[in-house]
Amino acid sequence: MKVLVVGGGIIGCATADTLARGGARVVLFERGAPGGEASGAAAGMLTALGAGPRTQLQDLAVASWRLYPSVAAELLERTGVDVELVRRGTLYPIFTAGAIVETGVPPPLAAEFGVAILDEDETRAREPALSPRVRGALFVAGDHWVNNQRLVSAYAQAAAASGVEIRAGRAVTRILTAGGRAQGVLADGEEFGGDAVLIAAGAWSGELMATAGAKLRVRPARGQMLALSHVPPVLTHCVHGDEVYLVPRPSGELLVGATVERVGFRREVTAGGIAGLLATAIDLVPALGDRAITRTWYGFRPWAPDSLPVLGPWPGVSGLFIATGHYRSGIMLAPITARVMAEWILEGKPSIAADDFLPDRFVAGPRG
Ligand code: GLY
Repeated sequence: MKVLVVGGGIIGCATADTLARGGARVVLFERGAPGGEASGAAAGMLTALGAGPRTQLQDLAVASWRLYPSVAAELLERTGVDVELVRRGTLYPIFTAGAIVETGVPPPLAAEFGVAILDEDETRAREPALSPRVRGALFVAGDHWVNNQRLVSAYAQAAAASGVEIRAGRAVTRILTAGGRAQGVLADGEEFGGDAVLIAAGAWSGELMATAGAKLRVRPARGQMLALSHVPPVLTHCVHGDEVYLVPRPSGELLVGATVERVGFRREVTAGGIAGLLATAIDLVPALGDRAITRTWYGFRPWAPDSLPVLGPWPGVSGLFIATGHYRSGIMLAPITARVMAEWILEGKPSIAADDFLPDRFVAGPRG
């Protein structure tokens, strides 16, 4: 089977690699460089637990989280790239003395992820630089993080080593269909044929799907971020407040993120965006006020109206598949998305429950 994958972000690269290892011939199209958009702009946090009742999304995230140690080890083995998996855990500060924190995490998962409520002394013992306003913390030992730029690069290199033909700098402008079947894609005016087409073009997936007559409501949610010099380090854990997160990187940078803005594809870092992040970060960790700003950037998260990923076959166009809508969790969900999509394409159905993510939910009329 020949599969054309459109999009060289983390989802496209990881899925292309998995498809090729499953025996498919794969061509991956990326109009820029792999990881050049949202995947490269992320912070790389692997935070799988969401508050509230158990959902398919939480199951998907936990399944992906469980894959990460072996993914990191295999990518190192296969490509020589260390994706910098850090396993020191995240502190979620509590500002109100005596606050009762209801995590909603089922007990087996709470144990697996090392979830604990820390009092003020325990919190400050872990992170002395936190503001005196912080009165405790929810600690999730199992919240890890990776270097997302290295991760995309490693997946792209692994995919190439698995035989994926990577066509970087080639912009796909149309999905070719005939008789209700996807036949291939048009890239820079040249037609490429295939047995299946996977659109993994992040926030740009909707405009590509429209060329096959499909209405996919995925929009960009801009995130602005910055990095501070972090030598010597102020923090050793990831610190996640309500409005800001702080991610200490082995490279000696502290990542500060992120805004969530519905401003279309406006390619700009704004004074207000960066000022807001910095004010919140310094309020949480006052010592950061002295640190140099090393970089600022933005990315466009792919966001569906229900904030869930969109994964599976497109109804009514056989051979056409979609994997987008990962919103704030694309890095977290990449390994399991690659598995689910490869199973959809090669075997006709995924081995885990993923019907909440079917694109059918955006399509009016009977399911195709
Ligand atoms: N994944 C973090 C963010 O969306 O800001």
